[in-house]
Amino acid sequence: MAILFCTDKRQITTLPEIAKILTPIGVKLDAWPVPETQPLKDLLGKPRLTPSEQEEVLSSFLPRFDDLKKTLGYQTQDLIVLDPDLPGLSALEEKFRSCHTHDDDEIRYIVEGEGIFGFVLADGDQVELLVESGDYINVPRGAEHWFRLTPSRRIKAVRYFTSREGWVPLYTGRPLSSAFA
Ligand SMILES: [Fe+2]
Repeated sequence: MAILFCTDKRQITTLPEIAKILTPIGVKLDAWPVPETQPLKDLLGKPRLTPSEQEEVLSSFLPRFDDLKKTLGYQTQDLIVLDPDLPGLSALEEKFRSCHTHDDDEIRYIVEGEGIFGFVLADGDQVELLVESGDYINVPRGAEHWFRLTPSRRIKAVRYFTSREGWVPLYTGRPLSSAFA
C-alpha cells in the first residue's frame, strides 16, 4: 500500500485521499495485488534474475500488459531489478534523484520491494509517495517528479513504454524541498 508524505509531515495512507492530491497533476495510482503463486513468489524472492526468469515474471502479468496496450497504446514492457549489490546502482539512482520530466508517461507496476516517487504539485508544494509491491503508478508526460530508493535499495518493477526515447530524463533544475532532500 502506497503512503504519501507531505512537507507539513502529514502521512496519507488511503488511495482516495492520495488521489485527491495527485489527480490534479495527472498522476494515477492503483492497487494491483501481485498473485500469490509459489513459483512467482520464489522468483521475486531472488535478488537477481536471469533474462529467462525475467520473462517468466513478465508472463505472469500479461493480462495487465494487454489491457495497457488496448487502453493506452503501450507497446513494450520490461522488468527492472535493482538490489544493493548491483554494479552502478548509485550512478543509476543519481540519474533519477533530481527533478525531471519525460516526453512519455512513466508507468511502473511494483512487483517486489519498494521505492519513492516525488512530485511537484500545481501550487509548487512537493510530496513523496512510497510505492511497494502491488502498486501501479502512471506519471504523465511532462509531470515534474523524481525517484529514489528506500534504504533497502531493492525493487522489482514492470516498466511499460510506447518508446524508449520518451524515458530519457529532462532535468528541470528545481531543488527538492528540505523535507525530502
Ligand atoms: Fe522519471
